[in-house]
Amino acid sequence: MNKKAYDILLFSYYRDAELRGADLILRLINRPDTAELQTNLARHLADETNHAWLWTERIQALGGTPTRIEDGYHRHLRRKAGVPTTLLELLTLTYVVEERSGKRYEEHAARPDVDAATLKALHEMRVDEDWHLSWVGEALKELGKKEGSEKLAAALARYRAAETEAFAEMRANEQKALQEIAAVEVGPQ
Ligand SMILES: [Fe+2]
Ligand SMILES: [Fe+2]
Repeated sequence: MNKKAYDILLFSYYRDAELRGADLILRLINRPDTAELQTNLARHLADETNHAWLWTERIQALGGTPTRIEDGYHRHLRRKAGVPTTLLELLTLTYVVEERSGKRYEEHAARPDVDAATLKALHEMRVDEDWHLSWVGEALKELGKKEGSEKLAAALARYRAAETEAFAEMRANEQKALQEIAAVEVGPQ
């Protein structure tokens, strides 16, 4: 198996999800009703763009360049979940996305063949992702008090269902692409 090519492509998928996750945070920042959230949003945006950079660094360390991902996680999500417009929708979708990235990185860190530098980056990101989940969860709780807990629960259920479908679809494509690239023989060096 060509592990280097496999890692470069998988890290490119992670990088793409981080960059497009940052785009979701930017859309929250641009909303007029987020005055109290601006500090957390600025920190959150800095984290996600840093995560994209950490993956870029890992790719470079492997001697590669980031692969452009044409049909990544957030594109699938857009098709399944639609375009969020209200504060409740944007925060709920962000929460669900954070749940996924935490799980993905946890799964990756548990693999038996992860090198030390990647483990370190994963650990750093998981600490951040935990904080993202916690502050967005608190903000949602506050919003639930204003807009009603039933409305919040309904939005969460709807986005969780859409995200589960989107992730399964994306992952099937991703796994296929990874298997193909890992099967390419490495020539004599
Ligand atoms: Fe992230
Ligand atoms: Fe995050």
